[in-house]
Amino acid sequence: MSFKEKIINKSIPKHIAIIMDGNGRWAKKKGNKRIFGHKNGVQAVKDTVEAAGEIGVQYLTLYAFSTENWTRPKTEVDALMTLLVNAIKNEVDSLMKNNVRVKHIGNINSLPKKVAQKLNELINKTSSNTGLTLILAISYSSKWEITDAIKKISKQVKNNNIDVNDITDETISRNLATAEFPDPDLLIRTSGEYRLSNFLLWQIAYTEMYFTDTLWPDFRKENFYEAIYEFNKRNRRFGKTEDQI
Ligand code: IPE
Ligand code: IPE
Ligand code: MG
Repeated sequence: MSFKEKIINKSIPKHIAIIMDGNGRWAKKKGNKRIFGHKNGVQAVKDTVEAAGEIGVQYLTLYAFSTENWTRPKTEVDALMTLLVNAIKNEVDSLMKNNVRVKHIGNINSLPKKVAQKLNELINKTSSNTGLTLILAISYSSKWEITDAIKKISKQVKNNNIDVNDITDETISRNLATAEFPDPDLLIRTSGEYRLSNFLLWQIAYTEMYFTDTLWPDFRKENFYEAIYEFNKRNRRFGKTEDQI
């Protein structure tokens, strides 16, 4: 029985976030350059987006490029940016066909003009779609996002739009880049690394974690469904006792 069959009629996470990791190692294992791994990672993205749509996941956040990734060699950064522009160009029709709405989290001002422009075009074009919401984390880091939220809230306090004593965790959530999305139910990281690498630190306070050794370019629909299958075995208590659930 496939994992897809196993999870049908089970609870499907509303929001899944993925740290897509292992492209460089995948390429190296094959005796190729790192960028070869990034190129092959695109198919895994396509498979995952389709897989999420097929089973009714509502939000899918993909960590594509972190703030820290800007410190990689310029050739790799440039290649990743080119790949991004090409992927947007190649995928826009199928995203429209599959009713996918694209959103972005991250520092748009830090992106090369062309990338920011293509990304904005894609966001605008898909904005009326009503199926899966695909959130691309590009030039994103959680510390950047939280710092930005603190700046916004501080300005509101300074302008007397909010009283310091009225600040709650909701205030913070509303000022993050993810304000309009629910927190992830499931976080997947590929490539056998057990860390968060500055991803959604606030939002994953109660998220279930799933780590797999599979390298991102090898990740396919069944890997995605397997993660959901594991998610369904978890007992989410949110601080309560088992009897209270
Ligand atoms: C993930 O793969 C893609 C990005 C971070 C852009 P890596 O490029 O990190 O691949 P590894 O971890 O070096 O194998
Ligand atoms: C995390 O992967 C960022 C993305 C997947 C975009 P990295 O490969 O950059 O993470 P570290 O540096 O190994 O923690
Ligand atoms: Mg990596």
